[in-house]
Amino acid sequence: MKTRRDFLKQSSMAAGAFAMQAFPSCIAAGTIRAAMPMKTRHVKKPLVLWYSQTGYTERNGMLLKKTFERLGMNATGSDIRDFDRAGIGEFDLIVLGSPVFYYDTPRYVKDWIQALPDLKGIPVAAFVTFGGPEGNQHNAACSILEDLVEKQGVPVGIQAFMNMSSFPLAWSKDKVHEKTWMSRHLPDEDTYKSVRAFAGYLKDQVEKGQSSEFSKKITLRECSTWVAPIFWTKLFVKHHSIDEQSCIRCGACVEKCPVNAIDLSGFKVDTDACVLCFACINNCPAGAVHMEYNGENIIGYHEFMKQKQLKITEPDERLDKEG
Ligand SMILES: Cc1cc2nc3c(=O)[nH]c(=O)nc-3n(C[C@H](O)[C@H](O)[C@H](O)COP(=O)(O)O)c2cc1C
Repeated sequence: MKTRRDFLKQSSMAAGAFAMQAFPSCIAAGTIRAAMPMKTRHVKKPLVLWYSQTGYTERNGMLLKKTFERLGMNATGSDIRDFDRAGIGEFDLIVLGSPVFYYDTPRYVKDWIQALPDLKGIPVAAFVTFGGPEGNQHNAACSILEDLVEKQGVPVGIQAFMNMSSFPLAWSKDKVHEKTWMSRHLPDEDTYKSVRAFAGYLKDQVEKGQSSEFSKKITLRECSTWVAPIFWTKLFVKHHSIDEQSCIRCGACVEKCPVNAIDLSGFKVDTDACVLCFACINNCPAGAVHMEYNGENIIGYHEFMKQKQLKITEPDERLDKEG
């Protein structure tokens, strides 16, 4: 007998398949290319920006900044949530990184780029971190670049860096993935090598005045971004709440929530506003965020790392903000 879950799964797959049949040209369309000359051939002040929920993208962003500094540049690094967009014109290379969420760039990142002023030919690059393995990472990085190019940035590079996934449903629910988590304990030194290499590559591209062209690939994962994956996933999430007894009032959930869905004064979660990014449960140090998926409790990132006794391998460079 078919369950409601099977029905919903099949409907969304059918919608994805239909979308692929009906609109193949939309997926292939749109090469991302420069619309104006590059503003500069010298990178003196690169800016590395990131959006990050569990720290993977931030770590890579900080390492890019640090590498630019080692290459003799006066680099700035910042979370987009702390950065004043008005000052962006001062920089001569902008690199923006984001995690892949639901095979795409998070809405918050897209909206943030939308509100940028005209970039007037500043070279731009994008990177994503993802937990994959098939995370539509190339297309998600292209999306960021596309939005930056719409703001008159000149594209010079994209890159995707694989990590462990921060998606709680994978480790909370799917035992099949368990082996994968253990064998893929990323980032490692190879990840950091490719981050450093990306910084050098971008510098060279600008010095050569070499803008690049990029295109999204035709993938089923890309199509699945059209059928509202957050909406479908949310149908199975219940009892999203904050436990008043366990909560230590640190405010991490409020700070990380991109849509202000958490009100700690009343211990309320606005589940309609929630975009199911799991920032609250992934960042709560006290295990006070409660969620159930398909009737089973979900654990957050800290709890997962603790249970599996996993530790992140840090790069040799000190990545603190002053360092
Ligand atoms: C809500 C959510 C959705 C995710 N969706 C994807 C995905 O579609 N593809 C993928 O490869 N990884 C996915 N991931 C994993 C993250 O992209 C990956 O772990 C990333 O490195 C996290 O970066 P951060 O620590 O900077 O937030 C998802 C994680 C979360 C929390």
